[in-house]
Amino acid sequence: MSIVFLDGDFIHKDEAKISPDDRGFLLADGVYEVTPFYNGVPFSLDRHMARLERGLAWIRINYSLDGIQDIHKQLIRANDFQDAPTSYVYLQITRGAAPRTHYFPQEDVEPTVYAFARTWERPSPERWAQGFSAMTVPDRRWSRVDIKTICLLPNVLAFQDAIEAGADDAVLVRDGVAIEGAHMNFWGVFDGTVVTHPATSNILPGITREIVLELADQAGIALEERPIQVEELKSADELFFTGTTGEVRPITTLNGAMIGDGSVGPVTQRLSDLFHGKVQEVQSGLEGSVA
Ligand code: PDD
Repeated sequence: MSIVFLDGDFIHKDEAKISPDDRGFLLADGVYEVTPFYNGVPFSLDRHMARLERGLAWIRINYSLDGIQDIHKQLIRANDFQDAPTSYVYLQITRGAAPRTHYFPQEDVEPTVYAFARTWERPSPERWAQGFSAMTVPDRRWSRVDIKTICLLPNVLAFQDAIEAGADDAVLVRDGVAIEGAHMNFWGVFDGTVVTHPATSNILPGITREIVLELADQAGIALEERPIQVEELKSADELFFTGTTGEVRPITTLNGAMIGDGSVGPVTQRLSDLFHGKVQEVQSGLEGSVA
């Protein structure tokens, strides 16, 4: 039975009760984070919590994140995920339960804080080596997608469209620009230069993106942060996504057409190796164990 965290308590999931007046449920009035753990060791927890803090401030939910890192680590322990190769903690904070209004509740309302831990499975090395397919879908999201709000309906619809069309994932397109994926950031390799959209309000500034940029820079790989035009995609040498539950994920087919020679490219492979190297480094103690 899964142990979850709700408003200060660690409880069995089937005991968790959230009010039907919760503004997360009625209005998607909240923010969330997904933080990876590898063999029970948190990866970039500080960065995830810093992004959450920025989101809370921007949507004006007053909630202190003191102790939040411990809550993450306790959830991993309570669910016995210390030895799980790949797991994550999902944390969501909403403005709380109050009679439904389109403005903030007039009275003081406690935010609802809900978190759970889950394992996830990496694709096998053989599956990864085949690469993944993606399909371009219109980006119908709002103008502040840099805030990690729980309002994910446009992402859900985009991903569903891609799946129904037989693709593994979606690439969101706005004004002729390939912005990002439905749940991952998007990258291309053009003449040896690794390109990804700049961290504007049009993308979610992924923590995996940030780390891959740092690793690529340290490795002396040419980098450019600029919008990628959809027309350029045909001539890309390589395409890939990055994200907490995707890590570095090669895209070898876009809209049914092969990218490059249709196999996972050397730059994607290199960045994936560097990323896994970083994970190993963190696991071996740099960020501390949760045990
Ligand atoms: N998604 N872009 C979007 C739209 C995302 O939802 C995510 C993360 C990312 C990658 O961010 P990060 O590297 O920090 O995971 C990019 C999470 C995992 C989710 O919604 O489950």
